[in-house]
Amino acid sequence: MADGSWSVVWITGGSSGIGRELARQLDGVVGHVAVTARSADKLGELSAASRTVFAYPGDVTDADAMAGCVDEIESRAGPVDLAILNAGAWALMDATDLDLAAVRTGVEVNYLGVMNALDALIPKMMARGKGHIAIVASVAGYRGLPRSVAYGPTKAALNNLAETLKLELEPHGITVSVINPGFVDTPMTADNPFPMPGIISAKDAAERILKGLRRGRFEIAFPTGFILAMKLLRLLPDAVYFPLVRKFAVRGRG
Ligand SMILES: NC(=O)c1ccc[n+]([C@@H]2O[C@H](COP(=O)([O-])OP(=O)(O)OC[C@H]3O[C@@H](n4cnc5c(N)ncnc54)[C@H](OP(=O)(O)O)[C@@H]3O)[C@@H](O)[C@H]2O)c1
Repeated sequence: MADGSWSVVWITGGSSGIGRELARQLDGVVGHVAVTARSADKLGELSAASRTVFAYPGDVTDADAMAGCVDEIESRAGPVDLAILNAGAWALMDATDLDLAAVRTGVEVNYLGVMNALDALIPKMMARGKGHIAIVASVAGYRGLPRSVAYGPTKAALNNLAETLKLELEPHGITVSVINPGFVDTPMTADNPFPMPGIISAKDAAERILKGLRRGRFEIAFPTGFILAMKLLRLLPDAVYFPLVRKFAVRGRG
C-alpha cells in the first residue's frame, strides 16, 4: 500500500492549497479521492471539475463527523488505503499578546483534528492489517520560532505523534508518514508579512508529497535547501540557536 497502488484516498483540508492540489493530482489516477473540509461549496466545485474526486464535507474538530466521513467513504468506495491528514490553521501571534481563541483553534484543528481522524481510521486499518496514514505537520515544528506560539507547538506535537504511530502501528501493517513542508504558496501564507525563503507552489509541494508517499518514506520534507538549513538549526546548541534566530527574526521584520 505504500507503493502508490491506492484505490481510495482520503484528504482532509481538501478545499484549498496543498490539499486541493493533492486531490487534483490524484484525480483519474486513483479510483476514489475523498476530500473533506468545512467549505462544501469549494469541495463541490472541485468534485464537479474532476473525474474521481468526491466531496465529504466535515469539520475535523468534530470527532463524530470524522467517523461519519470514514464510514461513508468506505461504504461507498471501499477501504481507505491512504489518508492524508492535512487540514490546518495558522495564526501569526506574539507570545506577548496571546489570543487564546486562536491558540485553541490551532490545537483543535491541527492536533485534535488529526486525532479525530486517527480514531476513525486506526481500528479499521488494524482489522485489515494494512493502510497508510500521512500527517501534514511543518518545519515550524522542528524548533521554537518567534511569532509561532499558536502554530509551531501543534506541528511539533504532530512530529512526535507520527514517530509514536510509526512505532506502534507498523507491526499492524500500517505505514505512517509525516510531511514537513517549508513555505508553500497557498491562501495560508498569502498574508504573511515576513520573507518566506525557498517558497514553492502548491503544485510542486503536492508532487513532492505524492512522490514521497509512493516510496513509503517516513519523513517527507521539502524544499531540500531550506530543510537542510532548518535541520541544521535543530542541531545547534541553545547558546547559538537563540541569538541567531533572534537576529534573523529582527531582520525579517524589516
Ligand atoms: N502553506 C505553507 O507554507 C505550509 C507550510 C507547512 C505546513 N503547512 C500545512 O499544510 C496544510 C495545508 O495548508 P495550506 O497551506 O494548503 O493551507 P490552506 O490553503 O489554508 O488550506 C487549509 C485547509 O484546511 C481546511 N481546514 C481548516 N480548518 C478546518 C476544519 N476545522 N475542518 C476541516 N478542514 C479545515 C481548510 O478548509 P475549510 O476552511 O474549507 O474548512 C483548507 O482546505 C496545513 O496543515 C498547514 O499547516 C503549510
